[in-house]
Amino acid sequence: MQAATYDIEARHPGWPARLGPLRVRGGVVALRPIRLRDAGDWSRIRLRDQSHIERWEPSAPGPWQDRNSFWSWPPQWLGLRGLARRGQCLPFVITVDGEFAGQITVGNVIRASLRSAWIGYWVSSTVVSGGVATAAVALLVDHALTSGGLHRIEATVRPENEPSIRVLTKAGFRQEGLFQRYLEVAGDWRDHLCFAITAEETGPGLVHRLVQQGRAEHV
Ligand SMILES: CC(C)(COP(=O)(O)OP(=O)(O)OC[C@H]1O[C@@H](n2cnc3c(N)ncnc32)[C@H](O)[C@@H]1OP(=O)(O)O)[C@@H](O)C(=O)NCCC(=O)NCCS
Repeated sequence: MQAATYDIEARHPGWPARLGPLRVRGGVVALRPIRLRDAGDWSRIRLRDQSHIERWEPSAPGPWQDRNSFWSWPPQWLGLRGLARRGQCLPFVITVDGEFAGQITVGNVIRASLRSAWIGYWVSSTVVSGGVATAAVALLVDHALTSGGLHRIEATVRPENEPSIRVLTKAGFRQEGLFQRYLEVAGDWRDHLCFAITAEETGPGLVHRLVQQGRAEHV
């Protein structure tokens, strides 16, 4: 993969963008910027999938029903869009076969001599184990480490979250250590494993690697 060639003067390198498509077992995966009109799909899936998602996400005030209602999306969208326009975040929707299927975000972007950020994601319970999240991570990490001008991406995951650990391992992340009582999740302070990848480790790119391994193909 090429070294970062982003415009150092740009206020929000790598944003907005459309990434993919990439075919995996679960369908054709692509990433696009979040939209205000995602409210209906976002809310319907998250209300239905509370048991699939809630135990892995940071705790937040108020009941799940309220935090994931149709009307809680517009302020979230506005906040994320504002951060994206300031170059602090890259917030994408994951689509499978053109339909809303989850979210993936590069957040807490720090520039200057750190050029680092975290990555977080969730997918609908209807598409799990089809390679969707792995493809989405590969697409976004390749983008963030080139057009996005970043050098390092981190991901933190609860040791119990085996599917997510598998996603990061398949995508090429390296485990660096254990953060004790790191994040409040499901009402308590939870240990998290820290995974990371830097630009030097990506070779011709994570997508290229997935394709070589037969886990994905270009459409
Ligand atoms: C974690 C999550 C994003 C994975 O999405 P996905 O599209 O199913 O991921 P992939 O299909 O690319 O990879 C999942 C892998 O985990 C494996 N897996 C699934 N359940 C598993 C389990 N209980 N134990 C071990 N591995 C498991 C799958 O078989 C697959 O591996 P494989 O391709 O080698 O067969 C999804 O389960 C999710 O949204 N979970 C809730 C939110 C969440 O945990 N977000 C991440 C927080 S760090």
